[in-house]
Amino acid sequence: MMFAPPDFFRRLPPCCRLPSLLLILLATFAVHNVAAGPPPLSDGHEAPPAVIERIDELRREIARHDDLYFRLAEPEITDAEYDALKAELRRLEAAWPDIVTDAPPVAEIGDDRTGFFPTHRHAAPMLSLDKVTTGAELAAFDRRVRRALGRDAVDYWVEPKFDGIAVSLTFEEGRFTRAATRGNGEEGDDITANVRALEVVPHKLRRGTADGRPVPVPDFIEIRGELFVSFKEFDHLNAARAAEGERPFANPRNLAAGTMKLRDPADVAVRRVELVCFGWGGFVPEAARPSDLQGFHEWLAAWGLPVVEAPEAVQGVEAAKAAIRRIGESREALPFPIDGAVVKVAAVEDADALGWSTSAPRWAIAWKFAPPRAATLLRGVTFQVGRTGAVTPVAELEPVAFEGATVSRASLHNADEIARLDLRIGDTVYVEKAGDIIPVIAGVDLTARPDGSEPFAFPEACPSCGYPLSRAPGHAVHYCENRQCPDRLARRIEHFASSGALSIRGIGPRTAEALVREAGVASVADLYRLDAEALVGVPGIGERTAADLLAAIDASRAARWDRVVYGLGLPGIGARRAQSLAAVAGDIDALLTVDAPLLTGAVDEGGAGFSAALARQLLDELERPETRRLLLTLKDAGVGAVAQPPRDGPLAGEVVVVTGRLAGWTRAEVLALLVNAGAEVRTRVTRETTLLVAGERPGSNLDRARSLGVPVIDGAELRRLLVAE
Ligand code: IVH
Repeated sequence: MMFAPPDFFRRLPPCCRLPSLLLILLATFAVHNVAAGPPPLSDGHEAPPAVIERIDELRREIARHDDLYFRLAEPEITDAEYDALKAELRRLEAAWPDIVTDAPPVAEIGDDRTGFFPTHRHAAPMLSLDKVTTGAELAAFDRRVRRALGRDAVDYWVEPKFDGIAVSLTFEEGRFTRAATRGNGEEGDDITANVRALEVVPHKLRRGTADGRPVPVPDFIEIRGELFVSFKEFDHLNAARAAEGERPFANPRNLAAGTMKLRDPADVAVRRVELVCFGWGGFVPEAARPSDLQGFHEWLAAWGLPVVEAPEAVQGVEAAKAAIRRIGESREALPFPIDGAVVKVAAVEDADALGWSTSAPRWAIAWKFAPPRAATLLRGVTFQVGRTGAVTPVAELEPVAFEGATVSRASLHNADEIARLDLRIGDTVYVEKAGDIIPVIAGVDLTARPDGSEPFAFPEACPSCGYPLSRAPGHAVHYCENRQCPDRLARRIEHFASSGALSIRGIGPRTAEALVREAGVASVADLYRLDAEALVGVPGIGERTAADLLAAIDASRAARWDRVVYGLGLPGIGARRAQSLAAVAGDIDALLTVDAPLLTGAVDEGGAGFSAALARQLLDELERPETRRLLLTLKDAGVGAVAQPPRDGPLAGEVVVVTGRLAGWTRAEVLALLVNAGAEVRTRVTRETTLLVAGERPGSNLDRARSLGVPVIDGAELRRLLVAE
């Protein structure tokens, strides 16, 4: 009945073997419970569908979180939650090693490549570090090291673990030639221009001295380090972003990662991203390497590179623990973010003897600090319906001050999460932040549980429309399948209007709800049928707001096609896939006739590169009569007629407003023409406006343009400007 390969257990430290065996048995039992059939023995037996589905789901989820963390620098979950997903997948994969699903295989160390930069192949791979969080785990690392080296005590080198983005800097004959991100460990993004813009790397390694002796400059070296942003710079940049109405960065790590992936080095240069160096990859000639990390630290400084301040050289694991403690105590006072400490075997000869596993060195370990938490009271749980119909439980908390903000709500993800935490109303719970953004409940203080508290049940009906909730076998999420569910519709409209989609100002969560409940909006296409009469009187909407809203909806007809595709909220289509889909289906007609070969075809052969499962899901959705009706209505409204705005169109760089009716053109046609000519179209004349197009019965924009001295043209002039006769 035990199906984990014996090797799986041998690789675990003895203390984990029994708990792991129990976990595997439990997982087997849980999975077996959701799928009828024989016990899930892998040898020769087919895995139950629930297992296959769960493996597929986990692979996709992990790939999504990898993408959010590594490529987009916008994580949604805590490191601990991520580790739990990976552990569950590893357990299932160990039990059912041959399961192949449509999902991408989970990378050992993620991939930060964006596709924008040229690829650079590292001379020596850039791997990750294994992590520990307890003294016992650190002691186990030390035992492994001592056993392998046949030593009683080992010299360690302990440093803070900087929380930024890993970088590899290549120097050839002492000249700085290349900077690359970690990428997939083998190949990274070539960010040389961006790193040069920061002016934190010398063009040439200095020929300095250490201990009175000249430091050799290697023929070739990849210096490994971290690019990071101080708290001061983070606050400063976020204040500037807030003043511009832009979304602030969630934490300094995201800011550092986001900055180094900017496409224009001039934008990088204005941000203060700092560098610290602590290791090497390729090193030629090998014989010229330093003998220990103390020596290397001195060499880095002699070469003129920024180094770790106050690293500690210690003897034995107890001294390493004390050094970690000191780093932990200094954390509050440090001007930059660290998320732990790194303990490294100090002697290079010893490190060579220990070597590497497939994903990390055996000569180093990361000690991860526990994330900050706050304790508070769980007052209740409410349930929110999302745009896909997923019902998410939300913890309503006694407000608590946490990390500079007041937290009164936290996501609980799904019913399994509630069961895992065994949450009860009245519990004292610990709040943590996921990737420093969204607060989550990380645990319960069972000692403070009130007597007589009861587990509570997930609702059976949708809290918005009363439709019975469904949950697919093996899946954690409950769904409301009613496409007319008011909350679900409101969330779809909110998404359609969001800044990454059609960017309709004035439609936030409250207005979207009011539009659905009070103005009869039953789909995103209905937005284009609204008039002042339908809007005025809806709670929160007066005449002025109605006019602004109608103007914003009107202007959204000129939204770029890929943003429209994203705004549709098609299954599995986020912002990035929307660009691929928009590229293969260039307008609404093309989207209505798109087929599987186009969706699954390779990108370099003109396809979208989607998996067969995603293509199927998408085609199912596009074949639905409601979806087809919606797309045709949007087409009639003139939405989706604008492809990518050209950079060199006749109106490139112009900020244009249109007022009044232009004879011979529908408003949608005018907007599409303007955007296709490279103009940025806005609804109100401001100091930034460079051109007003005024037709019959112009509005107040004409007066404002005149008083601000903005040039005004009429329809005939616009026609001459844009349409070749
Ligand atoms: S030593 C395997 N020392 O942590 C490479 N890494 O999780 C050995 N990091 O990619 C790395 N501070 O970018 C080392 N003092 C430090 C570090 C550090 C931050 C990052 C590094 C690496 C990641 C591994």
